[in-house]
Amino acid sequence: MVAFHYHDNQLWCEDVPLAEIATAVGTPVYVYSQAELQQRAAAFVTAESSAFTLACYAVKANNNPAILRLLGEAGLGADVTSGGELFLALHAGIPPHKIIFSGVGKRRDEIEMALENGIRALHVESAMELEAIAAVAAERQQIARIGVRVNPDIHAETHPYMTTGEKWHKFGVAPETAVTLLHTAREHPWLHPVGLAAHIGSQITAVSPFVQSAHFLVHMAEELTSSGIRLEYVDVGGGLGIDYGDPRNPISATTGGLRNQISIEGWVTAVTQPILAAGYGVVMEPGRSIVGPTGCLLTRVTYTKSQGGTQFAIVDAGMSDLIRPTLYDAYHPVVPVMPVADEMATSPYTIVGPICETGDWLAKDRNLPPLQPGDLLAIMQAGAYGYAMASNYNGRLKPAEILVNGHHYAVIRKRQDYTHLLDGCQAPE
Ligand code: LLP
Repeated sequence: MVAFHYHDNQLWCEDVPLAEIATAVGTPVYVYSQAELQQRAAAFVTAESSAFTLACYAVKANNNPAILRLLGEAGLGADVTSGGELFLALHAGIPPHKIIFSGVGKRRDEIEMALENGIRALHVESAMELEAIAAVAAERQQIARIGVRVNPDIHAETHPYMTTGEKWHKFGVAPETAVTLLHTAREHPWLHPVGLAAHIGSQITAVSPFVQSAHFLVHMAEELTSSGIRLEYVDVGGGLGIDYGDPRNPISATTGGLRNQISIEGWVTAVTQPILAAGYGVVMEPGRSIVGPTGCLLTRVTYTKSQGGTQFAIVDAGMSDLIRPTLYDAYHPVVPVMPVADEMATSPYTIVGPICETGDWLAKDRNLPPLQPGDLLAIMQAGAYGYAMASNYNGRLKPAEILVNGHHYAVIRKRQDYTHLLDGCQAPE
């Protein structure tokens, strides 16, 4: 399905014109398509339908409670990375046995919370962390189910901030350490080793590094089996990229569109087969590939100006709403919501926000029809790591979030008002 499409010379999400939402709710605003969310979630659930596969949605990509609930209802579990995300996953009704806890720095209170709620497993990333979990489990007289995240030292082509599986990264542990930790867990009365995990990075648009990682994990699991530890599952992490339409990316330029480079089904089949064939369960941790293409950020032009050879459109969204361009030099397609007649000439605009940072830009040199104050633009492919990374920097209020379902739409998070800027603040005694 195509969640966002032009009809009657304007941009719609499902059966609702985006201009109608902008008028009713104001801008900037994130708009998501429920049908697209459900379809993407279903693709992960049904691609390799088996009692032995579980897709745990990476909550960090988008943690709106209404979206989490939809994804949970579609059959996804959750990959959480903090007590806050665990709280949100449980609040959304995701069953604890479908929740895994990843991350290099789980605090004691977070470990307690995980055990208290009986989640599927804590994925350990250091010897010290395993000790901390063992201590909490022993105190509680409760078995802690343990996965170990191994760093497979696999290079994946993506932004350097998004590769995680090379040996100098902070993530996971070296293979020999992973084996030691799983043995330590087996020997401990309150630890039970159940899984081996890897996550090689994010926004990866080739399937081969994932397949390499899956084979690496299976090989390690087989060695563990012969040393007496039979794991329940192998976890290949997340990281499947989406097509941001970036012309600097040669793969994108050939496909042109806004769709995935690799289909979800193709990815799931490629990564799960070696694992299922070896007789292990599979866990996946997809984030971006589920929510990324389902959302856009709607913004209005406030002013335009030309200087220093650049034509700027100053819009009411900024890096506080969508930080990916600033942080990763990321490309998001920008399209007019009300395109003017086809024959209208376009010219390059740099789209910037109102924030006092030179890095506060959303798009550079995009060919757009002449822009006027009040014109609406849609920043596409913004469903993942968009709102989730929003902030109140420069006293900016976080935007509203809208979920479209057919002809209807609902506000699933209200725009903040100025009182939010005082949340939890108090004057010193
Ligand atoms: N599992 C683990 C352990 C992770 O660290 C991540 C993402 C995922 C799964 C989900 O990866 P995905 O399927 O979404 O690629 N802020 C960046 C992305 C950082 C990803 C961090 N970890 C961005 O805006 O592109």
